[in-house]
Amino acid sequence: MKIAVLPGDGIGPEIVAQAVKVLKALNLKDLTLTEAPIGGAGYEASGDPLPDATLKLAKESDAVLLGAVGDWKYDKLERHLRPERGLLRIRKELNLFANLRPALLYPELAGASTLKPEVVSGLDLMIIRELTGDIYFGQPRGISTLENGEREGINTMRYNESEIRRIGRVAFDIAMKRSKKVCSVDKANVLETTELWRQVMIELSAEYPEVELSHMYVDNAAMQLIRAPKQFDVMVTGNIFGDILSDEASMLTGSIGMLPSASLDANNKGMYEPSHGSAPDIAGKDIANPLATILSVAMMLRYTFNDEANALNVENAVKKALAQGYRTADIVTDGCTKVGCNAMGDAVVAALN
Ligand code: IPM
Ligand code: MG
Repeated sequence: MKIAVLPGDGIGPEIVAQAVKVLKALNLKDLTLTEAPIGGAGYEASGDPLPDATLKLAKESDAVLLGAVGDWKYDKLERHLRPERGLLRIRKELNLFANLRPALLYPELAGASTLKPEVVSGLDLMIIRELTGDIYFGQPRGISTLENGEREGINTMRYNESEIRRIGRVAFDIAMKRSKKVCSVDKANVLETTELWRQVMIELSAEYPEVELSHMYVDNAAMQLIRAPKQFDVMVTGNIFGDILSDEASMLTGSIGMLPSASLDANNKGMYEPSHGSAPDIAGKDIANPLATILSVAMMLRYTFNDEANALNVENAVKKALAQGYRTADIVTDGCTKVGCNAMGDAVVAALN
């Protein structure tokens, strides 16, 4: 098990340290962890948000554990040097087209959601976001100056059939292991790109007669996620819609600090990272929630290493730590024990089997 550990920026290093602590506590055989810089840390180390050595290490590893990238202090850099570019490039270079973002509400946290407990309790949703196409990568792009001297910004939304089909397949396959329902989210009433998306999903569904496929426009989906989120099981959508809807869905669960993610290629090699960002405002204060990163380790064990037993061990340890009343600042409620990032990591380690 060769794992590249890329802590990144902001709270990245402290949350990744907790996830590594949990991983080591599992006493797995042949575990090699190698650290390398990415994002702002990559830029500081070698003037590139994705240094060549980091990319090489990631390519040679079975899986990547990533913290988060980004800090306001890099906002003034040229676009290609910014931390986010490092993240987008590693996704593209490793062909990690399938981004799995589960939104699961732990019963203990029902009170931490901004929605009424009855709306969110029992929520167990899997958002599947296409990650290497769409307006994020489409050409042409850029900011140019028109003849009249006015500036114009351009990005291009595009998907080809095969890109849609392969992410659709991931969604249908996962639905087969869950409740056999897929909701495909698009804007087919306005955008041709997503009109094709819908057609391909319908064609693909013929191969999965047991799965019930539905379609929803993205604006309605954003509304339905707040109104009645439990109507959804697997949602599949493109890169930009998935970016937005997954942040929205995360808040149903109480805190974005709880949500892990997996980004997989066609062979289940993966990069695992929390769904949240680098939160530079709270970096280094030992108050960040490490659970999303720890839960990302569970996803790594499940999807890349096919080790369901250890994946469940980690997930159950997180549940146990929550049941014991441990809470970081973002999820604290009355009567709980408020702990820091490091102590939360210790609580999870102590709760492992
Ligand atoms: C995410 C993030 C990234 C994205 C940023 C940091 C580039 O928001 O992983 O959701 O937009 O994909
Ligand atoms: Mg995002």
